[in-house]
Amino acid sequence: MSFSLDKVVPWGRSFDEYVAMFALEPADLRRRILGCGDGPAAFNAVANRAGGGVVSVDPMYEFSGAQIKQRIDDVFDGVLAETERNKDEFVWQHIKSVRELGSMRKAAMDEFLSDYDSGLKEYRYVAGELPSLAFMDHTFELALCSHFLFLYSELFDLQFHIDSINELCRVAEEVRIFPLTELGARPSRHLKQTFDACMQAGLHPRIVTVNYEFQKGANRMLCLGKQ
Ligand SMILES: C[S@@+](CC[C@H](N)C(=O)[O-])C[C@H]1O[C@@H](n2cnc3c(N)ncnc32)[C@H](O)[C@@H]1O
Repeated sequence: MSFSLDKVVPWGRSFDEYVAMFALEPADLRRRILGCGDGPAAFNAVANRAGGGVVSVDPMYEFSGAQIKQRIDDVFDGVLAETERNKDEFVWQHIKSVRELGSMRKAAMDEFLSDYDSGLKEYRYVAGELPSLAFMDHTFELALCSHFLFLYSELFDLQFHIDSINELCRVAEEVRIFPLTELGARPSRHLKQTFDACMQAGLHPRIVTVNYEFQKGANRMLCLGKQ
């Protein structure tokens, strides 16, 4: 793997945000879940504490907790300053200010960091990256991918998106991806063609509106798999 930590901006969301972004019901949280590209999010830590079975996969997990923490500390103020500059791209309703955003993200990433070493030993944090995952077919009942696919449409091309979604559908019975916008709060340039390719491949794609919107216009997820 040639993943470089200094090229990535670790930024992790809370458990409650995952529940809202993916419209997770209590029954969903009892399923075998893969969190793909979870990075320093708190979802795995909190779900695990509540008895859930979440495995997170991310190229970042080849690094130690101390290395990831150092990188978070290095970029934290810069990300908030960038958010302040692009304030108009966000809905400041649930999260009221950049300062509150900082506290929320910090709390989520601290939650991740305090769980990381035990999670590595329990194989709940596994180093790996799309478009190829080292899991057997249908290992998971549900795969979630937050703020990676579609968001970085400028960096990852259409074929990467199609291959990655096929891979997620291979390892999980159902897949949910959020958001469908790319950086700059624009609809992803790859969404329509990815959707059509998924339709042709018989992956049963559907777009579902959810009760979460922080990046303006980002309130829809792509669901795949038989209902
Ligand atoms: C913006 S963060 C999102 C973190 C988390 N999902 C959340 O919503 O809080 C994007 C994550 O994607 C991960 N990533 C980068 N390349 C990846 C790949 N090829 N496959 C899976 N994850 C990748 C990064 O390491 C990073 O943790």
